[in-house]
Amino acid sequence: MDQYIIKGGNPLVGEVEIGGAKNAALAILATAIMTDETVTIENLPDVRDINVMLDAIEGIGGVVDRVDSHTVKINGSMISNLTVAYEYIKKIRASYYLLGALLGKYKKAEVALPGGCDIGSRPIDLHLKGFRALGANVDIHHGLISASAETLKGTHIYLDKVSVGATINIMMTAAMAEGKTTIENAAKEPHVVDVANCLNSMGANIRGAGTDVIRISGVEKLHKTDYFIIPDQIEAGTFMFAAAATRGDITVKNVIPKHLEATTAKLLEVGCEIEELDDAVRVVASKPLHHTQVTTLPYPGFPTDMQPQMSVILAISEGTSTITESIFENRFKYVDELSRMGANIKVESNIAIITGIEKYTGARVSAPDLRAGAALVIAGLAAEGITIVDDIYYIERGYENFHLKLASLGAQIEKVATEKEIQKFTLKVS
Ligand code: UD1
Repeated sequence: MDQYIIKGGNPLVGEVEIGGAKNAALAILATAIMTDETVTIENLPDVRDINVMLDAIEGIGGVVDRVDSHTVKINGSMISNLTVAYEYIKKIRASYYLLGALLGKYKKAEVALPGGCDIGSRPIDLHLKGFRALGANVDIHHGLISASAETLKGTHIYLDKVSVGATINIMMTAAMAEGKTTIENAAKEPHVVDVANCLNSMGANIRGAGTDVIRISGVEKLHKTDYFIIPDQIEAGTFMFAAAATRGDITVKNVIPKHLEATTAKLLEVGCEIEELDDAVRVVASKPLHHTQVTTLPYPGFPTDMQPQMSVILAISEGTSTITESIFENRFKYVDELSRMGANIKVESNIAIITGIEKYTGARVSAPDLRAGAALVIAGLAAEGITIVDDIYYIERGYENFHLKLASLGAQIEKVATEKEIQKFTLKVS
């Protein structure tokens, strides 16, 4: 099994290019099957979750042509199978976007019901409420969600909770329903806007994405497009936090600084200097870091996907900080691993109380999920001595060439698979 081995202590310095947004890409790949014409998607991140989604599209009969590692052409005219199998859902929950896409296009779809996951129970009741409101019959039997409708009719949908997934899924179906749909209390995340922009470039009529009311006038047909995905705000934020943790100086390039405002605000609060350029952000951490309070919230609040990385910073910042996780109930699983590196964190319900220590000490830890895995790597980069991160499979779900990008900034990090490679690295850095 692959692992990352890290010798901590080097401040990260230099420039790093950010790739396309994984979470936008997952949904945009699903929209690509909603027309019979060929859709070209550029700036696709080359990560595991995206490859599973492409397999799922091929699994229902879509034609996938991987032009290069960041460009794909998809043709959905040959789709023959309206059932998305459990093997895909089990690997990535987001393959449920195919339910919204297929239902919109063919008025019928079946997708295996996703189970729980590493960051807590994740119901999809709001997605189903939306499909039902649009006139679909939705049943759950033998582990499958079946949705079908004679005709889908536009309607008014209020989401009880702000949900990225439900907003996008309902928006996709409503794009091909008859008449007008309004989604209230919609998610405002940048990737919701990106999916709406992609659909509009395919001929859909969606207004208000990025606000909490999205208005959709259904169209009968969608057409081809050539769409370039927005930069990944979480990948960018992760590198910005790596700069802070290692007292470095990094410029993250190819980003939309506006999407990073919550992350930037917290870095300023803990004592970093930030310089915003047109499509880049520079983070300089020259002074000791200090404590702050953080609550995760839907966009434009502080993203839950940056919460573990924030903990890593606060655990080596002077004073006592708190992090309140308000989106997912089980997102502090990494705390035990971080404690093995010396962190002093107490979790009470959905609040982590963090007392800053001076330094992490390297240890062998396991990535419990994607973002927490990246956070443990950051801790390793800041630690004294050697850290080995196991289960990096999770990290590779969402970060392309993570260790190579970090190494280009001066980190001592390698991907290893054997005891011999570990020994070789240890000898090299000692
Ligand atoms: C997306 C992101 C994920 C991020 C999350 C929150 C993708 C592929 N994943 O996940 O990385 O952490 O947004 O920013 O884009 N909820 C319900 N019922 C539903 C749907 C959601 O109660 O039908 C609840 C969830 O349990 C959670 C909250 O709503 O407490 C927000 O979840 P949601 O925004 O839907 O997250 P995802 O779209 O799954």
